[in-house]
Amino acid sequence: MQAAETMDRALAGLDLRGRPGGPSETPTAKRLSAKICLIGDGPVGKTSLVRRYVLNMYDDSYIATIGTKVSKKMVQVPRPGDRPVAVDLVIWDIMGQAKFRDILKDAYFRGASGILAVCDMTHLPSLTCLEEWVRAVESVTGETATLVALNKADLAGDAEFDEDEASQVADSFGGEVLATSAKTGGNVEEAFRLLAMSVVTRALGPRTTGRSP
Ligand code: GTP
Repeated sequence: MQAAETMDRALAGLDLRGRPGGPSETPTAKRLSAKICLIGDGPVGKTSLVRRYVLNMYDDSYIATIGTKVSKKMVQVPRPGDRPVAVDLVIWDIMGQAKFRDILKDAYFRGASGILAVCDMTHLPSLTCLEEWVRAVESVTGETATLVALNKADLAGDAEFDEDEASQVADSFGGEVLATSAKTGGNVEEAFRLLAMSVVTRALGPRTTGRSP
């Protein structure tokens, strides 16, 4: 119990607790709550990615997000040699207006344990601004699990940069890169799953199969 409390304090934004008891559950089963922030300029597709992920819906119309919208979804993260961890993602879709970022960053980013940094493949400035967005979050949270979504992959024919260029930017803040499309749904589940895995690994450490060599 004491160890769990210590871990809670050590992991800002993570609520780690034993799963509620049930006949097939053990006290060691884990359930974890993680705040994920979607950041990046507008209109790169942050709202559309959340909508695709949570509701499996997509809309071509654009209404700029004012403030932030919070959604939830649970994802199971496999752990080799152990039971999977159930992660309750609390997903914050944050407006893409950088001019408000410094004023609101404490309110929006506090407690985040994962960052989905979104850019639009067809618009190079949306990639080059990402480092500033990530730094703004990490100025509040410290070093945080980050995944860069190169969104609008369905428009790859009009791309202004490729994955290699995106990886160079992502390397500056240590993020993985994945091409996504909220429109087709391509890699959307995968993006949130990879980010959740990264959050879990930071929280609980890497896991081996536990078998002797
Ligand atoms: P802000 O709220 O201003 O920060 O914008 P946002 O980043 O939340 O963008 P939003 O999801 O509202 O999408 C902006 C526009 O891009 C909308 O017209 C979407 O339909 C479109 N869009 C989003 N994702 C995709 C995608 O994967 N492919 C294509 N072709 N269009 C997309």
